[in-house]
Amino acid sequence: MSTTILAIESSCDDTSAAVVRDGFELSNVIANQQVHRAYGGVVPELASRAHQQNIVPVVDKALKDAGVRPEELSAVAFTRGPGLLGSLLVGSSFAKGLALALGVPLVEVNHLHAHVLALFLKDPAQPLRPVPSFPFLCLLVSGGHTQLVLARDYLDLEIVGQTQDDAAGEAFDKCAKTIGLPYPGGPVVDRLAQSGDEKAFVFKPARVPGYDFSFSGLKTSFLYTVRDKARHDPDFVRSRTPDLCASIQRAIVDSLLEKLEKAADELGIREIGLGGGVSANSALRRELLALAQRKGWTAHLPPLRLTTDNAAMIGITAHHKFLAGQFAEQHLPAQARYPLPSQADNLHKTSSP
Ligand code: KG4
Ligand code: ZN
Repeated sequence: MSTTILAIESSCDDTSAAVVRDGFELSNVIANQQVHRAYGGVVPELASRAHQQNIVPVVDKALKDAGVRPEELSAVAFTRGPGLLGSLLVGSSFAKGLALALGVPLVEVNHLHAHVLALFLKDPAQPLRPVPSFPFLCLLVSGGHTQLVLARDYLDLEIVGQTQDDAAGEAFDKCAKTIGLPYPGGPVVDRLAQSGDEKAFVFKPARVPGYDFSFSGLKTSFLYTVRDKARHDPDFVRSRTPDLCASIQRAIVDSLLEKLEKAADELGIREIGLGGGVSANSALRRELLALAQRKGWTAHLPPLRLTTDNAAMIGITAHHKFLAGQFAEQHLPAQARYPLPSQADNLHKTSSP
């Protein structure tokens, strides 16, 4: 019998719904919230209001695009956290109500777990696309998190390194804001960097031990450079934007790959994955592939459309939780802070629908 899951993602500023059948993505609808652009960042109250407006049409379109009727669903899945509480509440409440009305089980998903498992989502148009084999090391880089995750199995993940301050996406966004680029700055920096000189400026990240990262020093050094140079040359930012973008991008990518290489070497892992919004970055993708070739790694990059927040990644994670019998109770609260599962947690989570 096939397993058909409707998944809902509403952790930040994208309202998304997807239908995943037996691990295949049948639909993945994403409504971006443009309302935040004017504020240079996500405004939590506006995000939850926009989720409320978007959720019914987005779910309806996801079911229609998939050609699936509500009665055919095996389960409803939702992002439980981490994220903005008001945003998470909209998706989780909707998912709970729908599961109750349909009489199907509910599956809760950790958003970070889903960024890692996005690599396993099957595409009906490319059924033979290779997926990582376990164990693999995933560099998870998003707007809110930067982690090195050791995935031993679908439901057994361990964080082996993480940022001690800002996330990589946050560093992109904050540097972009410093030079007047719109939010989110990451994709804009990526585009402008293509015509810039990455050696024009040197931004050095703080050195941190082990497999951890630090990006707040980079952001400060970027800010000081811009401030000092602009004092002598009022046209500095306008004339050097591509060079500034290329140089900060180079510093962020180098710092990410340095720790990835160290962890892979020391843990003896040659199967590497990439996930999260920053995994759309063209320099990171290119440099990771080049490094993988030098090291003899097998690298798995998510298709661009699955890099930023989407419900299909929630659906594939829910698929594996469904198969393992990990269902959620109706009273389970959304959680703004929600750590990744580890093997020890999983031993206690199996329950019946
Ligand atoms: O995973 P995601 O969609 O949301 C979170 O869970 O945070 O990641 C969003 C982040 C933002 O910081 C955005 O600027 C960054 O991903 N991002 C990029 C690129 N595309 C998105 N950063 C660098 N280069 C890109 N091409
Ligand atoms: Zn995300």
